[in-house]
Amino acid sequence: MAGCKKIYLGTNTKMYKTIADTKKYLSRLGELTRDISRDEVELFVIPSFTALESASPFASIGGIRLGAQNMCWEEQGQFTGEISPIMLREVGVDVVELGHSERRHVLGETDEMIQKKVTCGLRNGFTVLLCIGETEEDKNTNISVEVLRSQLKKALYEVSEQDALNLWVAYEPVWAIGVNGKPASAEYAGMMHSEIRRALSERFVENGTNIPLLYGGSVNRGNAVSFMEQKEIDGLFVGRAAWDAEEFNTLIRNVLEKRKKD
Ligand code: PGA
Repeated sequence: MAGCKKIYLGTNTKMYKTIADTKKYLSRLGELTRDISRDEVELFVIPSFTALESASPFASIGGIRLGAQNMCWEEQGQFTGEISPIMLREVGVDVVELGHSERRHVLGETDEMIQKKVTCGLRNGFTVLLCIGETEEDKNTNISVEVLRSQLKKALYEVSEQDALNLWVAYEPVWAIGVNGKPASAEYAGMMHSEIRRALSERFVENGTNIPLLYGGSVNRGNAVSFMEQKEIDGLFVGRAAWDAEEFNTLIRNVLEKRKKD
């Protein structure tokens, strides 16, 4: 984390909060973090689809960017059960999260689907938060870097230099996510982030060095700072430890406190 760079901190609430829960959560988080400059911290929350429309005004009042957990790769068509970028835009969303581990490994999304979604998200003017990460088996067979490179290469196949300005990448090792996950060590996460940065710098002539890179997977208020100390980690994508606004606020302040001391 370089001294003056913006920090990216956000959460995906998965399939947990109802509309009422989401509104309450956003207004509390907005209140608690009101004194924190949004030039310093990019704060974002990605609730369930049904909560988006009602959540939108609460997010804007709180200075919190609103994201969607998934999106179809076409603007309209015969895609029962899918959500179009136009529909997301209509309810005030401006970030789309694509390729989360649960979408890939539980719901069967392929790299090809993710590639089409990334292209569509960028074409429709969203900030795309692309999630990548290796499985435990990939790690144990020493192919983590190859897997990450391949996921990036496929997902970004059609992304232009200009579009790269609207891209964030979250590194979330599958084995580190959720109740059964173990957080990566800060050193390991730092190493993988350097590899991701290298791949992005090769892929894009200029803008690869500016793409925000976030770590995710069992981040909590105790380990958050250690991740942020790594050179190529620009932010954190938090699950469980962010779903209580007070707890997330403490995590955010721990990170900011550490930055002030540097
Ligand atoms: P977790 O989730 O922090 O609860 O492990 C992270 C994620 O799925 O993005």
